[in-house]
Amino acid sequence: MITLLKKSPPAVQALMLQIAAVALVLITLSMMGQRLTPLFLALCCGLVAAVFSYLLGQARWWWLIQLAFMPAVVVMLALDLPPTLFLIAFLIFMLVYWSTFRSQVPLYLSSNKVWVALEALLPAAQPNQVFSFVDLGSGLGGVLTHLASKRTDGRYMGVEAAPLPCLWSWLRIKLAGLKNCSVRWGSMWDADLGQYDVVFAYLSPVPMAQLWTKARAEMRPGSLFISSTFVVLEHPPQRTIQIDDLHHSTLYIWEM
Ligand SMILES: C[S@@+](CC[C@H](N)C(=O)[O-])C[C@H]1O[C@@H](n2cnc3c(N)ncnc32)[C@H](O)[C@@H]1O
Repeated sequence: MITLLKKSPPAVQALMLQIAAVALVLITLSMMGQRLTPLFLALCCGLVAAVFSYLLGQARWWWLIQLAFMPAVVVMLALDLPPTLFLIAFLIFMLVYWSTFRSQVPLYLSSNKVWVALEALLPAAQPNQVFSFVDLGSGLGGVLTHLASKRTDGRYMGVEAAPLPCLWSWLRIKLAGLKNCSVRWGSMWDADLGQYDVVFAYLSPVPMAQLWTKARAEMRPGSLFISSTFVVLEHPPQRTIQIDDLHHSTLYIWEM
């Protein structure tokens, strides 16, 4: 049971632990013949869930989420907000974050300074030659639209799994009138990396080993694989570029 739980995505683990905590607290209270106020009951459930998350070895932020979850439910219920508000919020979060609970790659954006640093890593301009660039998990399309407007001798493709960011970047590209740029709704795991001269990814530590295997299998010799912030363990890059931005981003660069 514990082994199965450990193999589940963290969000599923958290949900299961939260259910177990509520059940444990309710059973204990009924055996003791005790009744608590809703907020105190929620705090007890949160505390037990946080301890469970700690014992399972979840990351620290999950302890806080677990602690605050049930009290937040009670406070929200007390506010008596219209249920449609929760439905709308849920739908927006779902469309923005989509499969993050499984992929563990949420939406956060590269800085403008990263976009500028990427410009310098694109292939040198050659007469009558077009290079190709892909952003795996292209988010709101900032990387793509910036590069497509600066280096018009490139063909830019974004692959984005979440529907709302994908729609947003599609509109952004259309409104900017960028003919050399497009975005596709889908998974990066279905993209053929052999089509591109430069493959860029800003994801999370979780998919990097699998992405490296895919890049090695598909990318052409001489093409560039660039990862922002996240390394590939056991495969040091040939170059790194430190970016002086808010997140202290680092670009890791491999020539394949
Ligand atoms: C950290 S954001 C990076 C956004 C953008 N590349 C940038 O640099 O600003 C990662 C993006 O990858 C997307 N993503 C996660 N898993 C994906 C997958 N398997 N296929 C395509 N996109 C994915 C997420 O929805 C998210 O928008």
